[in-house]
Amino acid sequence: MIKKSIEEKLNEQIQKEFYSAYLYLAMEAYFSSINLDGFANWFHVQAQEECDHAMLIFNYINRVAGRVNLRQIDEPPADFGSIEEVLKAALDHERFVTGSINDILELANSEKDYKTAAFLQWFVNEQVEEEENAEKNLAAFQFVKDDPKGILLLDREMAARVYTPPSAAE
Ligand SMILES: [Fe+2]
Ligand SMILES: [Fe+2]
Repeated sequence: MIKKSIEEKLNEQIQKEFYSAYLYLAMEAYFSSINLDGFANWFHVQAQEECDHAMLIFNYINRVAGRVNLRQIDEPPADFGSIEEVLKAALDHERFVTGSINDILELANSEKDYKTAAFLQWFVNEQVEEEENAEKNLAAFQFVKDDPKGILLLDREMAARVYTPPSAAE
């Protein structure tokens, strides 16, 4: 069993993870439109991971005899002003998600729901990686910023990212 208050927060988190996927797909589309296919690839993989996050929570709610309740997903931004703007927005978004995970963990602890707290630990660790990646992308771009050759080199690096499904949270 799971308390209704925690079930509610987890359902909201499913929505946030799917919104994350949507946001990163919008970013992929932006990079495709300016022919930075490596950046586009990186955000495509990122969007796939966000769907995985949503499904991990979806499966968890089912396993603890809760009820999944899918919510409406907001529209992501239709366009972005610059490469730097996208990378900053991605970092801001990951910080927002970290805060959201922390809030649910706090609630789980205060309600003595230790299984949900243990489940969320994977997400706490994952958010360290998510913020680290977003910070590195932004910093790498800020190094090369006005240098087209540098951007192309970075684009080639971003092209190397490969999707791997999550393993530790089942
Ligand atoms: Fe996520
Ligand atoms: Fe994320």
